[in-house]
Amino acid sequence: MTKKLQSIRGMRDIFGEDLAIHDAILFIVSKTVRYYGYEHFETPIIEYSDVFHKTLGETSDIVHKETYTFEDRDGRYITLRPEFTSAVVRAFIENSFETHLQYKLFSYGPLFRHERPQRGRYRQFYQFNCEFINARTHFSDFETIALAYQILKELDLLEYIKLEINTLGDEESRLAYKQVLREYFFDNINLLTEDAASKIDKNPLRILDTKNESDLAIAKNAPKIEDYLNTESKDYYLNLLSLLKRNKINFVQNPKLVRGLDYYTHTVFEFTTNALGAQNALIAGGRYDKLIKLMGGSDIPAIGFAGGIDRIADLMKELSINNRSIIKEKNVAIIAITEEDYEYASNLGYKLRNYGIAVSIEYGVVFKKQLQRADKGGATFVIFIGEDERKNAVLKVRNMLNGNEEMMREDVLYEYLTQHLALNI
Ligand code: HAM
Repeated sequence: MTKKLQSIRGMRDIFGEDLAIHDAILFIVSKTVRYYGYEHFETPIIEYSDVFHKTLGETSDIVHKETYTFEDRDGRYITLRPEFTSAVVRAFIENSFETHLQYKLFSYGPLFRHERPQRGRYRQFYQFNCEFINARTHFSDFETIALAYQILKELDLLEYIKLEINTLGDEESRLAYKQVLREYFFDNINLLTEDAASKIDKNPLRILDTKNESDLAIAKNAPKIEDYLNTESKDYYLNLLSLLKRNKINFVQNPKLVRGLDYYTHTVFEFTTNALGAQNALIAGGRYDKLIKLMGGSDIPAIGFAGGIDRIADLMKELSINNRSIIKEKNVAIIAITEEDYEYASNLGYKLRNYGIAVSIEYGVVFKKQLQRADKGGATFVIFIGEDERKNAVLKVRNMLNGNEEMMREDVLYEYLTQHLALNI
């Protein structure tokens, strides 16, 4: 007997309502990033391994144990992208973008990390990603965080999320802080797990955001970055915080927030939720002033973030927010009661679509099922076609948002629908 074919562990098919929510999120995000001047930017799904391995940090979990890396037929090592940032920077340098201009680059698509699958964590997952290159002054940090905040607002999620923020300071501050941390952790090495102890030398910051209880107890009393920031880094951070306050974007400072990737400097932030369990970060990012130079480009600063579409979709499902309420797009379902009504329904659908209205009609499906599907599919109005309606050309129109029904002549219907759909009712 042949073995049943299956998808790869941690990877899944997405369809139906799940994909409708996924698409609705992308629709809102693509619209919102345009308010902030972002342009669409695409890079390949696979890169030479160095693009990621040299940039994310040899000690980062992603490079250490999570990339899908293969030897290709030419004997070169290639990696399925685990994130966008390094790929976007590689493309920025390779395509000789002007280094004195600002660029705001928006991407979305699948990424691959060989992590342990669990709720909210997949091996193939989807992000939307924003990179602001040549982003100078704390005003660009503000703008970037404000964009992520507005995306969550447009998705009606503000009341379920928290903005956590921290600074890693500039290089000088970070080096000084790392040294103090090393000393502290070395003094407590006997109390640390082997995994944490192995990070002391190369990346002591990563011990701070450990999930291990006993390491956490030690990390709790570790020295804090704020005491090791030089004046410039401290001012930068405080200026950003006061801009956020003045614009009423609530945040909590989290000195343990260090992020899993090595390239960050200054501001790091995460929008988290407590409705999803352990995998709580929905949108995360930070400033990476040294990465472009490290990858062979000019010395220009940048900041960005990525949002996990799967996780945001999971949260929306948890909250029973459906794609109709997210997208606010209006569409109409025509329900033909018997086979005799099909031709009338088909004609009406043809005319409405020519008016630019999205119409769904289901032939050969029982009445009750049609109505259920119209509701699930997010129809704003349902038009019923039966014998009486056909004969008199007076149609029954139900507003699905408030349940009201009206009888209406076909010639009035077009105007009624275009008006009501445009008014977003
Ligand atoms: P990241 O924190 O690795 O950052 O990922 C950003 C977001 O992607 C997470 O907050 C989460 O929502 C989602 N995500 C990550 N891994 C998974 C997974 N296995 N399954 C489902 N969702 C996941 C970055 O990727 C940086 N490149 C962000 C950035 C852009 N920094 C500067 N520019």
